[in-house]
Amino acid sequence: MTPLAPSGDETPGVKGPIVTLDGPAGSGKSTTAREVARRLGFRHLDSGALYRALTLALLESDVPAGEWADLDEQAMRALDVTVTAKGTELEVGVGGRVVNSELRSKEVTAQVAYLASLPVARACLLNLQRAAGAQGRLVADGRDMGTVVFPHADVKIYLVAELGERARRRLREGGMEEPSEEEVVTHSGVIAERDRHDSEREHSPLRKPEEAELIDTTRLSFDEQVEAIIRLVQEAEQRE
Ligand code: DC
Repeated sequence: MTPLAPSGDETPGVKGPIVTLDGPAGSGKSTTAREVARRLGFRHLDSGALYRALTLALLESDVPAGEWADLDEQAMRALDVTVTAKGTELEVGVGGRVVNSELRSKEVTAQVAYLASLPVARACLLNLQRAAGAQGRLVADGRDMGTVVFPHADVKIYLVAELGERARRRLREGGMEEPSEEEVVTHSGVIAERDRHDSEREHSPLRKPEEAELIDTTRLSFDEQVEAIIRLVQEAEQRE
């Protein structure tokens, strides 16, 4: 299967809806987007995975982190981060191999916010993300899906949840069944710092797209939030 060809076009919903989910860390974007896509038979683009893949490729290269900002777009492209469609799955690759769990390693997590703040990295990944949406029928999650990557998306969602709840979810994802209050408070600090970094950075900062529907998931079950989004997609399709 050949990787998706990069495309600079962002063609407004000609071949099926594009749904964007943006929001802060731990708001449940990726798991929610994956399930919404699965139920609708759409593709799911986890754009954070692309930033993580580029970080992984750089960590495996011989370029020290202090020199990443000096690389040009061509040098970043040569690291060969790809997105390949396999049915409704989008596989992320680095140098020809599929990457998955390595993207969540401590080393990648420690460097990815810095990499994502570099305009050259964002430019390098922009066309790859748009290529994933060229056929429509895509649910894309990240920080700038509705603002920068797919400004003409048919449905835009902004997911939020209270800080403590987001910390609790991240700890549970990491394998802690019932985190203590102390652990939640400590991890809330980490997430608040990540939020600050993502919202205050100069390039493509995290912000709610003006026309996005705000969904607070703090007190919603997973099913309730998935269903709320599917309803919005169905309403948008009926308006077409
Ligand atoms: O969602 P995540 O934790 O996998 O994201 C990893 C990092 O990439 C995080 O620092 C935010 C950044 N990111 C971004 O800047 N823009 C996106 N569209 C997606 C992720």
